[in-house]
Amino acid sequence: MNTKKKTRGAGGTVKRTVRLLKDAFSGEETAIDLLKAQHEEVAALFKKIEKTSARAQKTKLFDEMASKLAGHDAIERELFYPACEKAMGMTDLLGEALVEHGIVEFSIYQADQARQGKDFQFKCTVLSEIVEHHVKEEEEEFFPKVEKAIGKDKLVELGARMKERFEESQAEDYRAAVQNNLKQVFAGALKPAKKVKPTAA
Ligand SMILES: [Fe+2]
Ligand SMILES: [Fe+2]
Repeated sequence: MNTKKKTRGAGGTVKRTVRLLKDAFSGEETAIDLLKAQHEEVAALFKKIEKTSARAQKTKLFDEMASKLAGHDAIERELFYPACEKAMGMTDLLGEALVEHGIVEFSIYQADQARQGKDFQFKCTVLSEIVEHHVKEEEEEFFPKVEKAIGKDKLVELGARMKERFEESQAEDYRAAVQNNLKQVFAGALKPAKKVKPTAA
């Protein structure tokens, strides 16, 4: 896969701090602020997974990352992308993003299946590269268009609903959510049905 490594160095940290301070003072976190903060959180967890060699700690970090990624998928697919589609129609960028979500979920499934095997780390690496590619397109190409099309006030309101749904998702079993979505993707769905009922784990 042709993915360029993106360096999230000191510049990114400064930008994020400035954004968080701005939001803290204005009390207005937009949907896009929330998504970008989650992108950074997941990228940091991928780095920790790569650096950790003890298997129990590595799989614990993987579960944390996968749960956050599945929750992020849920708020984009259930709330953010439909709002984007309403404002801009089904653009190529939105269509690509939806297809990539299916690929990300398949890679979560593959890595999880390999959690006790020798191939766990390289499956995590492939997953992180796919996520990195997807995040780069969202942040550099898609989000600027969304900001223009939806506007700040609506994005603040949308962000609040997404935050609530994300918190709810963290109490759900990420495997059930991923497998439910994948079943629909394998059946040809571009937009898997909205909400996944939590299973008794
Ligand atoms: Fe996405
Ligand atoms: Fe995203």
